[in-house]
Amino acid sequence: MFAGSVILVLLAVVPCCLGEIRQSEIRDDSRQIIMFEKFGFDRNGKINITIKNVNVVAKDQLEPDMDLLGFFLTTEEDLLAVLVESEEQILETCVLKNSQIRTLFTLKEVVRSETFTRFLSPPDANEYTLFFANCLSKSVVSMDVRTAMYNLEGRTNTPDYLPAGQTQLPRLFFSFFVIYTVLLGVWIYVCIKQRDTVHRIHILMGILVFFKALNLLAEATEKSYIKKTGLAHGWDIAFYVFGFLRGVMLFTVIVLIGTGWSFLKPFLQDKEKKVLMVVIPLQVFANVASIVIDETGPSTKDWFTWKQVFLLLDIICCCAVLFPIVWSIKHLREASHTDGKAARNVVKLTLFRHYYIVVVSYIYFTRIVVFALTTVTVYHYRWTSDLAEELASLAFYLFTGYKFRPVVHNPYFVLDDEEEQEILTQDQLKDDEFDLYLGDWFRSRSEDLGAGYHDELLKVMASIFLRVNRGSRI
Ligand SMILES: *[C@@H]1O[C@H](CO)[C@@H](O)[C@H](O)[C@H]1NC(C)=O
Repeated sequence: MFAGSVILVLLAVVPCCLGEIRQSEIRDDSRQIIMFEKFGFDRNGKINITIKNVNVVAKDQLEPDMDLLGFFLTTEEDLLAVLVESEEQILETCVLKNSQIRTLFTLKEVVRSETFTRFLSPPDANEYTLFFANCLSKSVVSMDVRTAMYNLEGRTNTPDYLPAGQTQLPRLFFSFFVIYTVLLGVWIYVCIKQRDTVHRIHILMGILVFFKALNLLAEATEKSYIKKTGLAHGWDIAFYVFGFLRGVMLFTVIVLIGTGWSFLKPFLQDKEKKVLMVVIPLQVFANVASIVIDETGPSTKDWFTWKQVFLLLDIICCCAVLFPIVWSIKHLREASHTDGKAARNVVKLTLFRHYYIVVVSYIYFTRIVVFALTTVTVYHYRWTSDLAEELASLAFYLFTGYKFRPVVHNPYFVLDDEEEQEILTQDQLKDDEFDLYLGDWFRSRSEDLGAGYHDELLKVMASIFLRVNRGSRI
């Protein structure tokens, strides 16, 4: 069959349009199908494809039929129809000969060693994906491809390189940048006012909001440059840097709050340090993967692998940050049964339970619901999924900031010597347990934790893994 699974995989993991001008180098590539770009077109859409240095080498053939290699444009629905059809057919025909897709040109029209440009309009306003198909058996292709897709806007016909449905993004990100700047101001004000009760964690939370704001500003600027010129003009680098800092800071803060560091206890237990030592390097790798994904585009050979690597690392981070919260809940629950300060511990317990639920919801929403939204929304409203994601993040930041803000002498957050000693003893006992812990987690914890948390975590993990495997299994 005609590489159908490959395309389905690609469609599954390219939920949003990439936009902008792209240069791709294809070298000795034997793939039957190469995906280039997905773009939402208005009525006034344009496509400009330039290819040069074309070279086709076919085994066993002196005069390869260049009509069997070419570029085509298709909507997702049409492509699915074609795939179903080609599965039913016994005789294999080249996809370029199929009437349901729109073949733009074949390499027959391209004179070797010359630059070839094709400038055209898509048939109608819709979301189209540009593919290259190679139906020549046992052949490899090399070429340099430059693609530019844009919509002409307004009376002056200025090109807009962001896809329809995403051209609102610069404004959206900028609005959220303003919101986070205001939040940062409020946070600094609260911290100064409650100077005596500010812990180190509150400073870290402030830094997190600062990075989040800068990340949004960089994203807004990057997108607005792409919108106007098709190129990022270096703002992508700022975006990656702040995105990376924000990612590391976010997971660190979630872990530290989860452990109760600095407001429940001034130290970290060894297993908690280990979680941080797992999460931070994973964030580094996840960010490297996401840079590769963004900068190369789906025409690169290992693009799909990188995408999977990124999703997997992200999921591991998300699951790892839940451990410290679960540990805190468990510890507080035990304490509320055993010692005389039951009422105090119950309040803490409730707070940590809420925090756990909020973190799980945040992860679930930003990873799964947003992904689902991008796949179900009409391309014209793609920006709504970004809006949903930013709103969810905002709600999460607001909740965390409000619940864990520095407050005037809060008896619940004070730890007495006795309790501190208890945690320290526990720490020594559980020092070596960590590695076993991960493996046995589900079995051993279900009794301690009660079915509720356990089920929830299982559900989240299952749906996340489903999401990763969605592509590879079809
Ligand atoms: C298409 O792109 C090429 C550059 O690769 C440029 O020279 C040409 O002018 C463009 N065509 C149109 C109509 O914009």
